[in-house]
Amino acid sequence: MKSTYEFLQIPLPYSPAALEPGMSSRLISAHYTDCLGAHVDKLNAVLAPYKTYHRATLRELIMFSPRLPDKIRRDVRYHAGAVFHHNMFFYGMTPDSQGAPFKVLSTAAKKSFASFDDVLRGMRAAATSLHGSGWVVLAADSTGRLRVVPCPNNETTLVMGMTPVLVLDMWEHAYCSQYSNNIDAYFDAWVKSINYHFAEEILISLNKH
Ligand SMILES: [Fe+2]
Repeated sequence: MKSTYEFLQIPLPYSPAALEPGMSSRLISAHYTDCLGAHVDKLNAVLAPYKTYHRATLRELIMFSPRLPDKIRRDVRYHAGAVFHHNMFFYGMTPDSQGAPFKVLSTAAKKSFASFDDVLRGMRAAATSLHGSGWVVLAADSTGRLRVVPCPNNETTLVMGMTPVLVLDMWEHAYCSQYSNNIDAYFDAWVKSINYHFAEEILISLNKH
């Protein structure tokens, strides 16, 4: 999968109907095709004239965004952040959710919170109290400690020096057509779809560095 310009939309790792009934086929399909597709296109359009940055990955574009030219900094950070978070969001779900965290995530949750249930309580509280559009991110800081971080708009924890482990989309397009403003019901559906294997692999690769 090409990880630099010209960016391609990642394949959806399941069929749009695979997460039903929690996430409807219509919801996932529109979200993936219209929303993520638009951000990929806009990011490519902004970067097109700037060949210097055509070898940069999404992470690099976000992390080093302060060094980008004034003219494109805001748009690159916005769209690269959106693409990066959407990739994490879609790959962080699976129709075959394992139902509970594996060893590394479970241990980190106990160290940083009291349990993984407390992690979810923190994420739910952040989701229901987020004003405006954004993301709720479970991230690992440089010491491996887990934190729940609300990220307004398309800001990411990467620029804060933290690696996202699980990402929840709290833009209205992610839930409104199915759940209206019932954030709790949307959150419950997301929890039932969490891909714990995906989160575990991220933490394992962090521990190797
Ligand atoms: Fe989204």
